[in-house]
Amino acid sequence: MTRVAPPPDTPDASPNAVETFAALLTDPGQRLLDQLRSITPAEELSAATRLRRDHPPELVAAALGQARLRQRAAAKFGADAALMYFTPDGVEQATRTEVADRRAARLAGAGSGSARVADLCCGVGGDAIALARAGARVLAVDRSPLTCAVARANAAALGLADRIEVREAAVEDIDVRGFDAAFVDPARRGGRGRVFDPEGYSPPLSWATALAARLPRAALKIAPGVPHEAIPPTAEAEWVSHRGEVKEAVLWFGADTAPGTRRATVLPGGHSLTGSPDPAPTGAPGRYLYEPDGAVIRAGLVGTVAETLEARLLDPSIAYLTCDRPTPTPYATGYEITDVLPFHLKRLRALVRERDIGTLTVKKRGSPLTPEELLRRVKPRGRATATVFLTRVADAPSMLIGHPL
Ligand SMILES: C[S@@+](CC[C@H](N)C(=O)[O-])C[C@H]1O[C@@H](n2cnc3c(N)ncnc32)[C@H](O)[C@@H]1O
Repeated sequence: MTRVAPPPDTPDASPNAVETFAALLTDPGQRLLDQLRSITPAEELSAATRLRRDHPPELVAAALGQARLRQRAAAKFGADAALMYFTPDGVEQATRTEVADRRAARLAGAGSGSARVADLCCGVGGDAIALARAGARVLAVDRSPLTCAVARANAAALGLADRIEVREAAVEDIDVRGFDAAFVDPARRGGRGRVFDPEGYSPPLSWATALAARLPRAALKIAPGVPHEAIPPTAEAEWVSHRGEVKEAVLWFGADTAPGTRRATVLPGGHSLTGSPDPAPTGAPGRYLYEPDGAVIRAGLVGTVAETLEARLLDPSIAYLTCDRPTPTPYATGYEITDVLPFHLKRLRALVRERDIGTLTVKKRGSPLTPEELLRRVKPRGRATATVFLTRVADAPSMLIGHPL
């Protein structure tokens, strides 16, 4: 089904947004930004009042906004954030450095020499920067004038202006002939919030897939929750987590990819597991419980991890694995289990008191109770620590108690 693309998700804040941003790049703008480098929220009001004596109020407001965005962006860009520029949507949507770097190395660094890569939907440039640092010559395209101005400023601020050309255009109008690769990171927010149907992305997945078929290699970012049925058979699909949180899914096309394969990549370690979604066997609880990484679960590779751990599922519909021997793995977190009990709050409360447990970590899959509610009702007060898993064992509501390995 063809759908009309949603309206732009990054409307420029005001008609003067580009001019106001440009003023930040002038000497007075830069001096203001320098003064605001380590401003705290509590200091903002007095700083604004003081700075407005010597500077136009809109420049002061823009500098304060930028200082705030830089601080927020540090979680994604580390020390670079203090040199870069952002828009509120731009920070939100940008790929964090560790994730972008790894993807860029595969997309741009695989060939010899310096690849020509089109970054279609470049935003403030998170991926364009990683691609350029991986050695590519990048054409970075976005339809938002302010976003393009910001991406251009970022390329210059990081000394990459000679490797990144930023172009304000609709990606549909870009001629990709002669490029070695393309990366597409579509907008996945429409006027009414998050878009779940990949055909509702801007540009739609079918457009990006057709583009990928015309290039030696391509990578398309999609939402991690995308249904596997929506993945084109010509793609290798990769789910990426960073410090245990699933960050993105990427469809890979062309050279050095394995169509139909599913991949789970765990960062910052960089471990990468491939396979095809196979069900794991189910069986009785053993001494160890393994909680697969979110990327493994989304990629449908719990069965592959189960095989390496010689493990089985506690319940066929829940991603907890159990086994009898501990095996170190980057793809799952292991626990030694001391108790397997039918779910019973009173029983848990008694056990927590008996064992002097004060720090109880609650993990749950397949249980309606929230960790907060459980802790409120169990009231752990002692000095020991423990982890409780609320889940189902062979369809029966159960609690497993243990400790991380
Ligand atoms: C998810 S963001 C990209 C983030 C970027 N990869 C980064 O790391 O900073 C998507 C961007 O696509 C742009 N966009 C959406 N549809 C577009 C289209 N048809 N042509 C050009 N740009 C488009 C939006 O303006 C937005 O900046």
